[in-house]
Amino acid sequence: HTGGPSAAVFGEEQEALVLSAWGAMKGDSASLAVKFFLRIFEIAPGAKQMFSFLRDAGDDAPLENHPKLKAHAVTVFVMACESATQLRNTGDVKVREATLKRLGATHVKAGVADAHFEVVKTALVDTIRDAVPDMWTPEMKAAWEDAYDQLAAAIKEEMKNAA
Ligand code: HEM
Repeated sequence: HTGGPSAAVFGEEQEALVLSAWGAMKGDSASLAVKFFLRIFEIAPGAKQMFSFLRDAGDDAPLENHPKLKAHAVTVFVMACESATQLRNTGDVKVREATLKRLGATHVKAGVADAHFEVVKTALVDTIRDAVPDMWTPEMKAAWEDAYDQLAAAIKEEMKNAA
């Protein structure tokens, strides 16, 4: 028995914590997405190089207005929410096979490593904490981390197959 948040069963309470935060945030998802990826690049400035459209855009292009970067941020949020619902229902995360294959290939090709998934997790959690300070609890943090970890594990597994 290892203890820690991941050892606990992901149940209705955990799902509700993830979904209630997302419910409070999603109306503001565009500006939230900006904060999320700015936080990623604050923690790991080198990560910018992985995004082809940022490399091409040059240094002075305003990150804030980048539609693809916003889309990536919102996708991570939405997929983490879906992951939470699946975890509660089945105890496992099953991303659609075709989607997962594509995600594996994309991330391998972009040069994404395990450490990047940790950076994105930290940025995700920081963003939610700052967005819903009144709702924020250690339990909510653990639920988001769990949902994200399971999703990241599914993508990483597919990255091994794609490598
Ligand atoms: C592309 C989702 C984590 C960097 C994409 C795409 C999606 C996605 C949907 C669009 C392309 C496609 O569908 O194949 C996710 C999810 C993640 C995650 C759900 C975590 C659970 C990460 C991490 C990094 C990263 C940790 C690195 C910091 C990228 C890059 C691209 C990409 C560089 C390609 C962008 C381009 O140059 O066009 N991701 N991603 N992603 N992702 Fe992620």
